[in-house]
Amino acid sequence: MAVRRIRVVEEKDLDQILIWRNHPDIRRYMFTRQKISWMEHSAWFTSLQGDPTRHALLYEDNGLPLGVVMLTCRQGNALAEWGFYKDPGAAKGTGVNMGRLALSYAFDTLRLHRVYGKVIADNLASIELHRKLGFVQEGVLRDHFGSNDHFDSVLCFGLLDSEWTSQRELTA
Ligand SMILES: CC(C)(COP(=O)(O)OP(=O)(O)OC[C@H]1O[C@@H](n2cnc3c(N)ncnc32)[C@H](O)[C@@H]1OP(=O)(O)O)[C@@H](O)C(=O)NCCC(=O)NCCS
Repeated sequence: MAVRRIRVVEEKDLDQILIWRNHPDIRRYMFTRQKISWMEHSAWFTSLQGDPTRHALLYEDNGLPLGVVMLTCRQGNALAEWGFYKDPGAAKGTGVNMGRLALSYAFDTLRLHRVYGKVIADNLASIELHRKLGFVQEGVLRDHFGSNDHFDSVLCFGLLDSEWTSQRELTA
């Protein structure tokens, strides 16, 4: 039986995470698209230490690291914006499994009231993933990301703790 878990990112995970983060299939859907240097990556990890508002989580399946989820808390740690990516070579279904565990961490462990995410409109996998996880589409920011020659709209998704609980009761 597959043992899937989510845990806090450790220093030993950093090499693997940087390889994923700089992969073209990941970068093309990020709001920051330039390649990240080891120095920047390492400074990011250092800045997380002792910061109770930012949670970097690693998703593992049978001990194999398969993705990263970031929760950035706001409003006295009641809300968090999330972001995530999987190992670009990981199987279909990885996103949903990782997302469920990350949301359980957000609502059951951190006791958040709301998790929200922003998705660039051509990111069909992420849009479908949010819907599968029970997120409600709350708005569209038209032509919100890009530069003079090309703009993309950005979709806003949100999920409340009550929705998470009732969704879990339905599937239990
Ligand atoms: C977003 C991401 C985590 C999804 O992971 P995944 O393993 O492909 O997702 P899953 O297979 O678990 O589920 C996604 C659903 O979307 C569907 N989907 C995947 N790609 C799709 C596409 N191009 N068009 C439409 N639907 C798509 C899947 O079929 C699946 O639905 P199904 O179970 O009914 O078949 C992954 O694609 C990724 O890391 N992308 C790059 C980084 C990124 O976009 N991060 C999010 C930024 S907001």
